[in-house]
Amino acid sequence: MPHPLSYDEADHDARRARQWLAGRARGAGVPRPRLLELGTAMTALAAAAGEREPVAVTADPVGADPGRDATGRDATGPGMVKPLPDRLFTRHDTNAEMRWEAMAGQGYVVPTDRFFVRNHTATPLIDPDTWRLSLFGDGLRGTPTRDRPVEFGYDDLRRLPAERVTALVECAGNGRRFFAGQQDGPSPGVAWGLGGVGVAHWRGVRLSTVLRRAGLTGAAVDVMPEGLDPEYVTGGVNLGRVRRPLPIGKALDDVLLAYEMNGEPLTPDHGFPVRVVVPGWIGISSVKWVGPVEVSATPLFSPWNTQLYRMFGPGHPDGGGELGPQSVKSAFELPWDARVPAGAEVLLRGRSWSGGGPIRSVQVHTGDDGWRPADLVAEDAGGPWQRWTVRWLPAKPGPATLRARATDATGAGQPERARHNDLGYLFDGVVRHPVTVC
Ligand code: MTE
Repeated sequence: MPHPLSYDEADHDARRARQWLAGRARGAGVPRPRLLELGTAMTALAAAAGEREPVAVTADPVGADPGRDATGRDATGPGMVKPLPDRLFTRHDTNAEMRWEAMAGQGYVVPTDRFFVRNHTATPLIDPDTWRLSLFGDGLRGTPTRDRPVEFGYDDLRRLPAERVTALVECAGNGRRFFAGQQDGPSPGVAWGLGGVGVAHWRGVRLSTVLRRAGLTGAAVDVMPEGLDPEYVTGGVNLGRVRRPLPIGKALDDVLLAYEMNGEPLTPDHGFPVRVVVPGWIGISSVKWVGPVEVSATPLFSPWNTQLYRMFGPGHPDGGGELGPQSVKSAFELPWDARVPAGAEVLLRGRSWSGGGPIRSVQVHTGDDGWRPADLVAEDAGGPWQRWTVRWLPAKPGPATLRARATDATGAGQPERARHNDLGYLFDGVVRHPVTVC
């Protein structure tokens, strides 16, 4: 199973940041001075301990009640459609985090019913008969405009050669709550534990196939897919629709316009009718409910690669450092505060993953002995994540702390402390998972 190395993500990000800061921006939606103001405001916000980045939902909330609805069915969350039972999810406003115990007994991929949801606003309900993928910009022959784009319907895409890819999608803020729980203090934004991640089988048509059919020219440098969900308003500023540029090299490589997830048509929360899947890159690149796609002969920018999804704060460059590949992480397939029987050997299961490359080794610490190597599931070798097991004989009753740490093929590992950044991205520290032996 190939692991999508994201070697050029940080590089692209850094180059575009330099161009943006040099005033060579052509970002639709928000003028640069306003973005700079917003950036300052967000950094100040991040510095104010305890405060969270405000999230404005611009669509009516759906079934905001946690737990079960009036008919006894599992309720959903604001702006989401699928049931979000407490045994599978922790809800965070418009987002739903997978509980790691929901993966116990599951196979390699995360079933769609328990896949995490990250929505800036709300899941739109889109009619596939009227939906269009509309490509425009001066990177295409004849420079089609946003009003007169090159269009593909849902059936057009389904008739093109299809490909399958098994890819991991992870929110760059996954693990953010441990910056607060284990380190210096709170970070603004969604307080993800480790469940803002999932691997699925995706099927669709390569973006490269569609770009070529739309008349791609050699002048194209960036491709910017845009979602059809409501515009995102934060800190009183309307940032417009979710969109983030991809360099043409990545767009022509392994990026998929996916219409199936785990063998079924996409569900509304995961991007129906069509979403982008960018293997190996941070989750925000995998734009859901894609509609317009700008193909440009000059670099493109959006708030999602200038003000958000950058490393701000002490020790990071002015204007923010690039995120680069997702950090190394490890999780136990156990509830938080799990109860474990004393005196009987248990098989602990977990998974580790990294955007930098395949996982090469995992070690586990159960508190009563040193770090021990975990057994890696051989068939996962080289894939987007790695399952592992380790045996443990908990001797004495009482609280215990489980820890797991992995190393990827580039040698990147998991330190005891993650490096601080104001917006709480790329946590890679060793997570202390509490259990009770009884
Ligand atoms: N695309 C749109 N249009 N709107 C969004 O809010 N969230 C992004 C990305 N694509 C988002 C989006 C983020 S931050 C992540 S991590 C992934 O979608 C999450 O995909 P999922 O909800 O299918 O798990």
